[in-house]
Amino acid sequence: MADGKKVLFEITEEHLDTGLRGFPVGTVRSSFVDPDDGVHYVGYPVADLAYLDPEAVVYLIFNKRLPNDEELVAFKADLASRAGVDPRVIALLKGLPKDGHPMEWLMCGLSYLGMTGKTGDWKEDALNMIARSAELVANIFRIRSGWGEPIPSNPSLGLVENMVHMMGVPGGDTEKLTKLLRIYYVLHMDHGGGNLSTFTGKAVASGLADQYSALSASMASLYGPLHGRANQECLEFIRKVGTADGDAVESFVRNELASGGKIFGFGHAVLRKEDPRAKVQYALGEELCPNDPLFRTSVVLRERAVKVLKENPKVSNPYPNVDAVSGALVNACGLTDPEFYTVLFGFSRIAGIAAQIVDERTVSRNGKGVPIYRCKYIAVNQPRQRLNNAAS
Ligand code: MLT
Repeated sequence: MADGKKVLFEITEEHLDTGLRGFPVGTVRSSFVDPDDGVHYVGYPVADLAYLDPEAVVYLIFNKRLPNDEELVAFKADLASRAGVDPRVIALLKGLPKDGHPMEWLMCGLSYLGMTGKTGDWKEDALNMIARSAELVANIFRIRSGWGEPIPSNPSLGLVENMVHMMGVPGGDTEKLTKLLRIYYVLHMDHGGGNLSTFTGKAVASGLADQYSALSASMASLYGPLHGRANQECLEFIRKVGTADGDAVESFVRNELASGGKIFGFGHAVLRKEDPRAKVQYALGEELCPNDPLFRTSVVLRERAVKVLKENPKVSNPYPNVDAVSGALVNACGLTDPEFYTVLFGFSRIAGIAAQIVDERTVSRNGKGVPIYRCKYIAVNQPRQRLNNAAS
């Protein structure tokens, strides 16, 4: 077919009402997901990038190349100079209901960051939001958990380092938690163009709202238990398993499946092999918390749940995904309330979604940007009808 007219996908009736699964709808420049090898950022497998400075990876997804040493120093300084949430955001957080979910706090917080500091420039707002969301998230943990007054920001520490410093986790091991969350941040940063939160953010941005509103909407998507909130449920599941004995874990999994339950942290919409993000985290756990009981349970699940799930030919991917072990690590490093885990996922994903929005708004279609999203729905069960007294 002529250029630009290649048939990518044949749409048939059976594709309707399947959540756009597999439909190509756009282009993405920052990452892609290979069903076997997992996510790549600008062509690099995520495992290669996991131990880099988080800021270097943010630079990568915005600039489509890794920074050299000088560029990295300058980029870190630039991000640090953008930090500083308006004090009204902290006042807002102090007034939010404690029974609101931390993700609801994050959605409100991002909107409020926008109301108190947006510029209207997609890229400027993206970078400001990345810098300020570290402070926002630290305060969400601190204020909602009742750990005390906010701790002054020190952005020169680095993005993740400052967040951990500002969390001031009571009795926490700052060094361990920082090491974990630097890697966690990179692993969760982006996942192709079509995951629900990224798609939502780009759709909202296509109406020319603004970065903060788009990201707040993305976080609403991520809040769902079928998307980001699965990481909270995963740790709750591992706690329920309650043992690291292989046979006991296996019979737990069998009983759970027999009673219609779910094995949290296994399977994925796109991946068909073990998620490389899980692989990195299993190795990291052996380094950071090898004897932690919940981590040990997750390691045993990696073997036994896969074994059981593989017995069912209908299961297309029996392998661990990014959530299978992330909660056990976060818990072992001092953040023990799983309700907050999706906020960590959201904090990390902000950079990826915002970069994709910048590309869609300012690079796609030779800089004109993608038009407002307007897909088509096929009407069913709606014969045309009129009211008896309608004027003709
Ligand atoms: C993920 O990180 O695995 C996702 O955002 C879920 C997806 O890719 O659909």
